[in-house]
Amino acid sequence: MLRRSLLALSRSDRVKGLVATMPVSSGIVARYVAGESTEDAVRTVGTLADGGLLASLDHLGEDCHDRTQADANVDAYLKLIDALTVSRETGRAEVSVKLSAIGQALGRDGERVAIDNARRICRGADDARTTVTLDMEDHTTTDSTLTILRELRTDFPATGAVVQAYLHRTEQDCRDLAYEGSRVRLCKGAYKEPASVAFQRRMDVDRSYVRCAMVLMAGAGYPMIATHDPRLIDISMMLAKRNGRSTEEFELQMLYGMRPDEQRRLAELGHRMRVYVPYGSQWYGYLMRRLAERPSNVTFFARSLLTK
Ligand code: FDA
Repeated sequence: MLRRSLLALSRSDRVKGLVATMPVSSGIVARYVAGESTEDAVRTVGTLADGGLLASLDHLGEDCHDRTQADANVDAYLKLIDALTVSRETGRAEVSVKLSAIGQALGRDGERVAIDNARRICRGADDARTTVTLDMEDHTTTDSTLTILRELRTDFPATGAVVQAYLHRTEQDCRDLAYEGSRVRLCKGAYKEPASVAFQRRMDVDRSYVRCAMVLMAGAGYPMIATHDPRLIDISMMLAKRNGRSTEEFELQMLYGMRPDEQRRLAELGHRMRVYVPYGSQWYGYLMRRLAERPSNVTFFARSLLTK
């Protein structure tokens, strides 16, 4: 119940207006968001690298309805890629992009704008010898995102996809995406979705996650297991072993600020562990989804608001 309310609030402009002026440095925001600037993001990559961790950086800015802002979001990614190149971090960090931040949410021409903008980011990443992974947003965007992915992969075959185990369609999407060279990040899914398209019970989502992991591990692509769920991590590692995959042939991924000790422990065991690092001032929607997953943090968040 609380989860659904928080997910509904994540789309509320009114509440966003009330809380989104909090600086990233305050309380709970700092726990999940690495900072506001490019420098903060690059510094975080260095800190993670000291613990043997890789990174995927997300410049926050989803649900953008303004063309100028969408273009500014692209520029922010290009600036980030330049900064990673200067700091020689492109071997350890890639970027994650929400298409709604770079044009997909603009209406009639949105898909075309998003493709052109995503192409600019992919070109910059390719020149810097790193990769881009396209985040997956709510189910109304899944077809459009996979269409854009296919188009990008003709020129930039290493572009990664995200699939969400809670969607009924995802097991089939995994079959379609499990081909040579295809990088696929498997997560549970973070949006409020209706029963017509998504499993509602945790147990059904977990079962779907296992079926999807089975398809990806048995396939020819590169699976990226994105979850903090210890049981699903164990099962995925067991599936990797059963399919004869070495630790170079799949990776584990978690979100910045979530289970940091476990991130380092898994890296120390020799696994590739990549941390998804959001940064920037547009943290509201992202943070609300994280609170929906850990309602115990809501009191902490409310306290940060009162002391702001
Ligand atoms: P879940 O939240 O169900 O937790 C399962 C269990 O894991 C818990 O019961 C507990 O045992 C353990 N656990 C979880 N968090 C913990 C914590 N902080 N401390 C201790 N134990 C904890 N979503 C999306 O819709 N589109 C996307 O593009 C992405 N991208 C993405 C990238 C990456 C790298 C990750 C890790 C996740 C995403 N997500 C996402 C978010 C994802 O869909 C999902 O909402 C969150 O990962 C939370 O789900 P979990 O799989 O972690 O399990």
